[in-house]
Amino acid sequence: MLKMLKMLKRPRRLRRTDAIRAMVRETRLCPSMLVYPIFVREGRNIIEDINAMPGQKRYSPDELPRILERAAEAGVNNVLLFGIPEHKDEAGSGAYADNGVIQQALREGKKHFPQMLFIADVCMCEYTSHGHCGVLKGEEGRSAAVQSATVDNDPTVELLARTAVSQARAGADVVAPSDMMDGRVGAIRAALDAAGLEDTAVLSYAVKYASAFYGPFREAAGSAPAFGDRKSYQMDPRNSREAMRELALDLEEGADMVMVKPGLPYLDVLKAVKEASPVPVGAYCVSGEYSMIKAAAMKGWIDEERAVCEAATCLVRAGADILITYHAPELAGWIREGKL
Ligand code: PBG
Repeated sequence: MLKMLKMLKRPRRLRRTDAIRAMVRETRLCPSMLVYPIFVREGRNIIEDINAMPGQKRYSPDELPRILERAAEAGVNNVLLFGIPEHKDEAGSGAYADNGVIQQALREGKKHFPQMLFIADVCMCEYTSHGHCGVLKGEEGRSAAVQSATVDNDPTVELLARTAVSQARAGADVVAPSDMMDGRVGAIRAALDAAGLEDTAVLSYAVKYASAFYGPFREAAGSAPAFGDRKSYQMDPRNSREAMRELALDLEEGADMVMVKPGLPYLDVLKAVKEASPVPVGAYCVSGEYSMIKAAAMKGWIDEERAVCEAATCLVRAGADILITYHAPELAGWIREGKL
């Protein structure tokens, strides 16, 4: 029957061999687009496992060069640092302390690896005793009636700006606010400029959803909220037009780059943001996405390499210019071996 259709179109011709598939590929990844998130905890001589994220560890600042060296050897030149302080308080003062854990880590990292790009996460949740991403509004912020604790926006923005300045002074090339307060990008930009740090770039977590996929991160960073949730500041997963509003505001406020987070469940949002954004767009393949693949792979239920390569490729296909992933070192290797 088919033989009679002389003009049959045969898309399979372009899938016939490795060589032809490689030539007609629409999506290509490169190690320079990868960002590796690293957890740094206060102390000395510490390298400890993170239960919920097998393969990832917490490093004290003095041990940070070890993992930076491994990342650099694998071909990853961009890192995103999260700090975990020894002491937490209501105002998250460890975030903007000149000798805070992240500031120590940035100094140590820059000293040994000046060519690397250091991105510092700007948020309060790792530093506050209540685990929320900012300072709380008195009693009202804790009332049982308010399911999501009320984070006081404007005082929090001031502390975030202070944090960003202190991180930039310690050596951050890029600051990345992940708190979702209103107006923080503009305030951070203004504070950096006022401090003579006009060359420090802002990568905004412009579109960040209130997601269950951050679960393993909260174990890693000890940053789970002590009560309530983050729904009064992070976005509702049901909304995508709202992402356009967040994007527009952050661009107006001076974001140099933006990101969408989490990754895989939000490909439609990522694609829409990419189409509307004149600045580079990142996708954050978050802790839950990492741990799901890891856990299934450890049980022998999924092929980790193929699953990770596919997920990364799909994020780039959907629009990611920058890919933030805990699999960055492995991915860099697989890219070099021509596996994606
Ligand atoms: C801090 C922050 C979080 C993540 C990045 N920055 C946690 C949260 O919002 O609860 C999550 C990253 C991940 O899950 O890998 N606010």
